[in-house]
Amino acid sequence: MAIERLVEPMVADDKEEERIEISLRPTTFKEYIGQTHLKNNLKLAIEAVKKRKDGSTLDHILLYGPPGLGKTTMAGVIAHELGASLKVTSGPAIERAGDLASILTNLKDGDILFIDEIHRLRRAVEEVLYSAMEDYKLDIVIGKGPAARSVRLDLPHFTVIGATTRTGSLAGPLRDRFGMIHRLEYYKEPEIEQIINRTAGILKTEIKPEATKLLATRSRLTPRIANRIFKRVRDYADVNGDGIIDAKIAESALDLMEIDYLGLDPADRNMLKLMYENYGDRPVGLTTIAALTGDESTTIEDFYEPYLLQIGLLARTPKGRIVTEKGRKHLQNSKNKL
Ligand SMILES: Nc1ncnc2c1ncn2[C@@H]1O[C@H](COP(=O)(O)OP(=O)(O)OP(=O)(O)O)[C@@H](O)[C@H]1O
Ligand SMILES: [Mg+2]
Repeated sequence: MAIERLVEPMVADDKEEERIEISLRPTTFKEYIGQTHLKNNLKLAIEAVKKRKDGSTLDHILLYGPPGLGKTTMAGVIAHELGASLKVTSGPAIERAGDLASILTNLKDGDILFIDEIHRLRRAVEEVLYSAMEDYKLDIVIGKGPAARSVRLDLPHFTVIGATTRTGSLAGPLRDRFGMIHRLEYYKEPEIEQIINRTAGILKTEIKPEATKLLATRSRLTPRIANRIFKRVRDYADVNGDGIIDAKIAESALDLMEIDYLGLDPADRNMLKLMYENYGDRPVGLTTIAALTGDESTTIEDFYEPYLLQIGLLARTPKGRIVTEKGRKHLQNSKNKL
């Protein structure tokens, strides 16, 4: 991507950020704020497995939703609460069916295999995963040419937790292998406030309640963004004050970052502006929007759009996206800030 966006919900390619993200990651249901509905369902499923003691394992779980809402974190929490060991991989990392075979044969009963970006699994790999998930069998072909024969191996009883930002691109048969499919929702502002206060505690920084509130309104209802903004504001407070984050410090830091009161940054506003100036209230196709902003259409779809749709600045129609009345008003309000 051309510009580094502070409000980019994707994890940045930055070692320091990665380290902080890991240190802030909740490990228990108690620490994991929000997503109550999902947590209740998972707690029940975990309790049931623990109670049965007959070697039965947790159903395969598919978690989906926009980036930065806590899918990876939740996989860790599930493993921790279950007392299971967690192996982590991702769709693009498993290049061949043989790679998956070696991951699967190294698992033990009750292990959890977390597959991030599961929609990006290759077809050939996906097919091996089907029977592995369904009846814990692995079909492999040994040898080549006429001498090749296929063998069926027994696998340990494991649980797959798959994560994806888009269920739409997941093959039907793969989806059907998951006993539980859950969407992670955008957080409510008070939940984001709790997350910010928790982060402040872990990073030993004092933040005033009004400042917490202010940051929460700008965090796109997304924990990863809340944490990232918090970190920047903390730097600002260290440099321009005594390290305490009050409303005034928070406000000036956010101004410096050009994040407006809805959490939009210049890139979001620019996209809305280009759409509106060129198409008014007519629908615009995804590829056209991508051409206007110079981004990939998947970037628009995965990173810009979900939040703008969520807060009603954009609407989706069969013919494309439109800037809503609310979107137009927002553009007028923040015109000078572009
Ligand atoms: N419920 C929560 N409570 C507190 N902090 C959270 C919560 N969910 C996420 N976080 C914080 O947000 C960060 C990002 O979460 P996570 O990496 O799990 O998101 P993700 O949904 O896996 O994103 P992606 O789709 O990009 O992989 C975590 O490191 C954690 O610090
Ligand atoms: Mg993740």
